Amino acid sequence: MDNSKKAIGVFDSGLGGISVLKDLKKLMPNEDFIYFGDSAYAPYGVKTKEQITKRCVEIIDFFISQGVKAVVIACNTATSASANYLRKKYQDLPIIGMEPALKVATQGVKNNNIVVMATPLTLKEKKFETLMHKFRGNNKVVKMPCPKLVEIVENDLLDDKNVVINQLKDYYKNVNMNNLDSVVLGCTHFIFYRDYLNEFLPAKTHLVDGNIGTCRHLKEVLEEKDELNKENNIGKIEIYNSSDDQKYMKLSNKLLAR
Ligand code: DGL
Repeated sequence: MDNSKKAIGVFDSGLGGISVLKDLKKLMPNEDFIYFGDSAYAPYGVKTKEQITKRCVEIIDFFISQGVKAVVIACNTATSASANYLRKKYQDLPIIGMEPALKVATQGVKNNNIVVMATPLTLKEKKFETLMHKFRGNNKVVKMPCPKLVEIVENDLLDDKNVVINQLKDYYKNVNMNNLDSVVLGCTHFIFYRDYLNEFLPAKTHLVDGNIGTCRHLKEVLEEKDELNKENNIGKIEIYNSSDDQKYMKLSNKLLAR
């Protein structure tokens, strides 16, 4: 089969990567996508690197059995824990990862106050330390681990405004909101909180995420290999989940339509 007609595999610890899938679909509407949510093993953010890498290998082997032309790790946590290992193991497969968009948040600014919301693992990994070293400059960066925001999405509580706002209040209780310039959404689950955060944070605070950068990067990689699907029809989306509980399939479709 011509590589350009093959699907793109996208995965996350659970349903957060659906926010990336939506942006991928917008940017490359005629590509086919296979989405794998690892909800049976979510959350990744409080697991060890070894546990996460084992899951990533199983998922990528599944994608390979489905004949994908590229894989997107739609998860900042799995990228920090396992991307280096995975790229060495699967050298013929383009593997695109994600990282908190600190570069975007610090571009052209000095002495800004920036909060990075991410999972505990992303924030304690070496990859994030390297990112801070490269881009922090004179800005003040506060790390904010927010594992509960992952649970809220996975438990279908995202529409419960009280639950969400109380959780945000708790995470932000020690932050001086008047001086807050930017918030980086360093976990793909958190993209679903954009509307809440726009309401909760001061109007001047910029919300920054890495979704579009990741989607553009994949497009460039496929372009370079001449593997973009040039057919003129709308591509398919297939969704898989590691959990047998049907509620995750329902919730995946709900988030996709959100
Ligand atoms: N969605 C994930 C991320 O971007 C991880 C969430 C989790 O499983 O802890 O980091």
